[in-house]
Amino acid sequence: MRAKRTTLVHLIYFSRLNLSADATSRTQQIGEITRQAQKKNEFAVITSFLIIEQNFAAQIIEGERASVSDTFARISNDSRHRDVQIVEWREIVKREFVNSFTTGIRTPTNDGLFQKASLLPMFQRGTPKAGAIHALAVTLQAESMTKQGIDHLFV
Ligand SMILES: Cc1cc2nc3c(=O)[nH]c(=O)nc-3n(C[C@H](O)[C@H](O)[C@H](O)COP(=O)(O)O)c2cc1C
Repeated sequence: MRAKRTTLVHLIYFSRLNLSADATSRTQQIGEITRQAQKKNEFAVITSFLIIEQNFAAQIIEGERASVSDTFARISNDSRHRDVQIVEWREIVKREFVNSFTTGIRTPTNDGLFQKASLLPMFQRGTPKAGAIHALAVTLQAESMTKQGIDHLFV
């Protein structure tokens, strides 16, 4: 008999970033978060996608239930952001993100995708929809994979 797979869940939260207003320091701070998160997530077999939109962050974290719970406990205690609120936390059948930690930031190339997702007014009202965050993250990942020429591996 095949062993039962452990329970996979995804957690989506959003928060307000406490990052520097200066672009260079901000990039450095995001780089620092990325280094820490990549290392920890690889170890915990977490896959995730972080969207940054102005001073808001929204992240989808996927993995085994206990790993997601431990990771979120650390994240929600981090003073580099505040007002961390869970949008959705549920079981999933399979993972949708391929990397331990990827960040999607608005650039001239993907501006249209951010525009269409229209997350900013939802963040400002404090009621972002899980589906909208998820859809933008999946689209940004697909765009990045197409650019790298590896999209055919993940259909
Ligand atoms: C917006 C944001 C997203 C983060 N995402 C992750 C993550 O996916 N995984 C992770 O381990 N840490 C993440 N971190 C960093 C954690 O909050 C924490 O600093 C890091 O895991 C180190 O924890 P420790 O100092 O308790 O060892 C994130 C931090 C911020 C501000």
